[in-house]
Amino acid sequence: MERIRANRTQQPVRAVLFDAYGTLFDVYSVGLLAEQLFPGRGQALGLMWRDKQIEYSHLVSTSSHGAHYRPFWEVTRAALVYAIKRIVTGAGNDWAAGGFEAKVEQLMNQYRCLAAFPENRSVLQALKAQGIVTGILSNGDPAMLDVAVKSAGLGGLLDHVISVDAARRYKTHPDAYALGPQATGLDAAQIAFVSCNSWDALAATWYGYRTLWVNRQQLPFEELGTQPLHTGTSLRDVLALPGLQGAPLQGPAA
Ligand code: LAC
Repeated sequence: MERIRANRTQQPVRAVLFDAYGTLFDVYSVGLLAEQLFPGRGQALGLMWRDKQIEYSHLVSTSSHGAHYRPFWEVTRAALVYAIKRIVTGAGNDWAAGGFEAKVEQLMNQYRCLAAFPENRSVLQALKAQGIVTGILSNGDPAMLDVAVKSAGLGGLLDHVISVDAARRYKTHPDAYALGPQATGLDAAQIAFVSCNSWDALAATWYGYRTLWVNRQQLPFEELGTQPLHTGTSLRDVLALPGLQGAPLQGPAA
């Protein structure tokens, strides 16, 4: 494994693909709204929602060869309903009478238009200036990603917005990670994959990407024996990756 890792870090990095939720887009505001709607239980609800969202995405990817696949918006909504039933209402509560449907809509609307982390723009601009190919590789479905990218004003800075919807499999399925090399025409080892989610950084490392785990929250990494190729604390750390090597920029015609 050490030799594989060493070979991978000797490759030039020609492209950088980012995870979306939690990496480019800040999900913090959703937690704040959850706390307003369900005082004292917002944090627990947010954690349960996120965990269930990931669990459901794996469930529908792996069960019956993906026959139960549905877009990430639906997976996310289903996970939220579950989390509210589990954390707030309990099994016996009357969902319709409690006005919970309206709260689900409020939280989903918040999720649709998340703020981008402040450093995103300058990092993407710096990568573009070096001729590095940039993009997103996300579980988000195309409509979700379109709204998120536009509302964060990042449209012109991304060469690719890749949704796993094209493969109908969620990360961590290899078919989802395969979309990055397919879209860019590059080998996975020449693509830096950047994620704040440790499970995503782990599986992308297994897949063969040059991974950067951005550990914004000082969390431990997954305990499954593999470490990401690089670890940082801000998206800016992508600019310090050894071997960043873009295509020569087109100068003005002589
Ligand atoms: C993404 C989520 C899972 O793929 O963070 O964007």
